[in-house]
Amino acid sequence: MHPRVTGLRGVELGVRDLKKTVEFYTNAWGLEEVSREGDTVYMRGTGAEHHILAVHERPKACLIGASFAADDRAQVDALYQKVKAFGAEILTVPSELSVAAGGGYGFSFRSLEGQPMMISCDVKTHSNIIADSSRPKKLTHVVLNSTRIDDTAKYFMDMFGFRLSDETDHMTFIRCSSSHHAVAIAKAAGPGLNHMAYEMENFDGLMSGTGRLKSAGTEVAWGVGRHGPGNNIFTYFVEPNGFATEYTTEVEQIDEATYQPHTKKYWSDFPNRPCRWNVATKASAAMRYASSGQMVEDLNNGVCDDIISRKLAGN
Ligand SMILES: [Fe+2]
Repeated sequence: MHPRVTGLRGVELGVRDLKKTVEFYTNAWGLEEVSREGDTVYMRGTGAEHHILAVHERPKACLIGASFAADDRAQVDALYQKVKAFGAEILTVPSELSVAAGGGYGFSFRSLEGQPMMISCDVKTHSNIIADSSRPKKLTHVVLNSTRIDDTAKYFMDMFGFRLSDETDHMTFIRCSSSHHAVAIAKAAGPGLNHMAYEMENFDGLMSGTGRLKSAGTEVAWGVGRHGPGNNIFTYFVEPNGFATEYTTEVEQIDEATYQPHTKKYWSDFPNRPCRWNVATKASAAMRYASSGQMVEDLNNGVCDDIISRKLAGN
């Protein structure tokens, strides 16, 4: 059997203000700090994964990596050999991982368009599940901006065993498990992080979490709605570093034996997109600004609040 990735573990972000970011993600977003080491803090959701978000203090906010799981060391080694043979830039060779990060065995590299990725196995899991549906359970997908959407989707499928779930005119959805998508590749002006999505236990939990964010001063940037591809309910927000981030639930679960991807035409003809309910009919200016990567860049470059406000007022 070809080596393959079997799950999405989490994301790692560089942030300029570690304290403020950790406060947001623990108090408002609903994660819990697991460990810290040097300038890095690891945070878990309510599920078993050791951590689903790692934040590192850096001079500029950036995506440090998307982290994926493989089944065992032989799979990690085999995936490393494929990546190396492809000619990817290797960041770290397969080795034992930091105890603070849950240990295990893995490597990191730059993907086709330069985005960093890690693949690991044997990372410690939590024996306790936190019973609070208003808090994120796990990271369920990342959407990567791309200038080479077809090439990048093919790269993930050929290199890591992802399967095509759906294609629209501007996004390709691929999966590494029965969940409709763990990665989507979005057509954009440049490569980067479009957004990350955290899975909530159910709709009530999503709304309760949304209420907690609103009380903490973070307004909904897009939603509540239900997407076409993946059929998931969504609310989007912009977190303090300018990254777009999502609460989602009811993501379509696929029968791998029978599922057939839908075409771009199927989705362009589909009624009520991007929201099946016809409620959240258009992403807000804030959401489009953040998901393009430009908001992170502007904040990194000290663009003043006045200019940001004018951008957010656009539609
Ligand atoms: Fe999403």
